[in-house]
Amino acid sequence: MVFKHALGALALFLPAITCKEMAVNELLAAEQYDSGIVHESIMAKKMSTWDQERAAGLMSSSLYPELGYTPCKNGFAQAIVGDANNTFKCSNTDLYHFLPHEALGSSMGEGSSSWGWTSDSGREFVAIGQADGTAFVEISKEGKMVYLGRLPQYSVPSIWREIRAYKHYMIIGSEAVGHGIQIFDMTKLLDLDPASPKTFDAKVDLTGHFNELPVGRTHNVVVNEEKGYAVSVGAAPRNSSCAAGLIFIDLTDPSKPTTPGCAAQDGYVHDAQCLVYRGPDKNYQGKDICYGYNEDTLTIYDVTDKTNTTIISRTSYEGASYTHQGWVLDVNNQEFLLLDDELDEERGAGPAADGFPVTFIWDIRSLEAPKQTGIYKSKTKSIDHNQYVIGGLVYQSHYGAGLRVLDISSVPSNPTGSDVCEVGFFDIYPEDDASPGGGLVEFVGTWSSYAYFKSGYVFINTIERGAWVAKMTSKTCPPPPVCNADNCLRAFRSNSVEGRLAESQKFCGEFTKLLVTDVSVVPGYVKSACVGNVIERASSACACLPTPSS
Ligand SMILES: *[C@@H]1O[C@H](CO)[C@@H](O)[C@H](O)[C@H]1NC(C)=O
Ligand SMILES: *[C@@H]1O[C@H](CO)[C@@H](O)[C@H](O)[C@H]1NC(C)=O
Ligand SMILES: *[C@@H]1O[C@H](CO)[C@@H](O)[C@H](O)[C@H]1NC(C)=O
Repeated sequence: MVFKHALGALALFLPAITCKEMAVNELLAAEQYDSGIVHESIMAKKMSTWDQERAAGLMSSSLYPELGYTPCKNGFAQAIVGDANNTFKCSNTDLYHFLPHEALGSSMGEGSSSWGWTSDSGREFVAIGQADGTAFVEISKEGKMVYLGRLPQYSVPSIWREIRAYKHYMIIGSEAVGHGIQIFDMTKLLDLDPASPKTFDAKVDLTGHFNELPVGRTHNVVVNEEKGYAVSVGAAPRNSSCAAGLIFIDLTDPSKPTTPGCAAQDGYVHDAQCLVYRGPDKNYQGKDICYGYNEDTLTIYDVTDKTNTTIISRTSYEGASYTHQGWVLDVNNQEFLLLDDELDEERGAGPAADGFPVTFIWDIRSLEAPKQTGIYKSKTKSIDHNQYVIGGLVYQSHYGAGLRVLDISSVPSNPTGSDVCEVGFFDIYPEDDASPGGGLVEFVGTWSSYAYFKSGYVFINTIERGAWVAKMTSKTCPPPPVCNADNCLRAFRSNSVEGRLAESQKFCGEFTKLLVTDVSVVPGYVKSACVGNVIERASSACACLPTPSS
């Protein structure tokens, strides 16, 4: 009874939890989502953005020089001092290396997904998605990428190339018709000489090739290594027999991939995570579960029998616009997961009404009735994309706002998300930093990252520029700013000057976006009150102003 009493007392102090999960609007689902209208509109928007970038020459590697180790100091990594295009906003994250796509053997550039593999002896390798194939690098002990070679695309190029590891193989899918899924053995890289990078044959050098997709396209690939299978998701067209759902690929013999069946019941699956269930829901202990991110819903499948899968639940949520991807907090105790929506910022839907990215927190302690318990809102405008949970941190790719790392260890005790904080970030796309909110709601910048390496090196792949290696310098959220009411801060919010606070907020809104070293841009009252290091003092004062209310 003591236990019960203690729980009751604790409940009083828990923040109020508002649940935002919703039943599926079946009419909207049928008209907008099952038909493919929404997904086709996102793909069309992306293609038009990338066509414009191509036309403007922005996919050209000649714009992007190789960059070396650059520490993050006072919020900026100045990889080329005085060059705004090579000065990156950052927090708790240093840059180790950047190489443009061309230096990684690509003639087209246009980066996408990536995944890593660690050899038995601890060497760290990355497979990097590009429109015209997969580039391979080893990350040296010093954090430098060493280019080893590439595997060209199987059929025709496509910017959509998704890669996951299965043991020492890379599973490579593409939206290109006729591509199928390439299965490449990473141990082929172990003895390559970086002095003469090797271009593998897209067909002959594969361990296996899965060609039982309807037209050879797949939007993404997923792996359940423990159970020895991969999954193709979003294999168009939607009117094929598997409905672009989960197409299982048995990898028992990677040289002869076969399909035992598919799960078509909820139509198109955009991304998924398939795991042996370990968690509190007694009905599903040890079952083979897929968490599906299905455009308008979180759909949870029991796929234990690949010839007869069932849907456990299908749940929508406030703001659902394009349910994109997600990851469970703890694969060994599946109680919570994080979900990203790729269209809510652009549509201004639900909690993304202001265009700032939303991470949706779900309580999945009941697989049959998942609850959407809270959110985390990023403070930089962009679109949140792929995310992977490692330990108590989630590594997110926010297109133009770069790599964003959140401490989510508080979620099990406070699933409202109010205690989630940003540990660090590295903004690989300075081009949009001066925009309102610090970024653009556009499909530019980074697609994915890979942060599972024991060395702590985080690999980041970007659409326009190329590949990056970064490393966190701390895994603790920065403390709130220390705000001493000195002359400088007092001048910023002086009550005796009409409109001064608003004027300062406006100044700070611009001043903190880009690295400022020129004292002449600072207003007179700031210069005279913040004597000494004007720029540094002004920037501290800016961190201590209340956020403007409008
Ligand atoms: C920065 O890049 C943009 C293109 O993104 C270009 O127009 C501009 O000239 C570059 N600025 C510098 C200083 O190189
Ligand atoms: C499936 O849809 C495509 C268009 O995406 C169409 O050309 C084809 O005829 C359809 N096939 C069937 C069997 O309905
Ligand atoms: C499929 O699974 C359902 C429920 O799990 C079961 O009732 C049904 O008999 C199964 N069908 C086949 C053909 O195995």
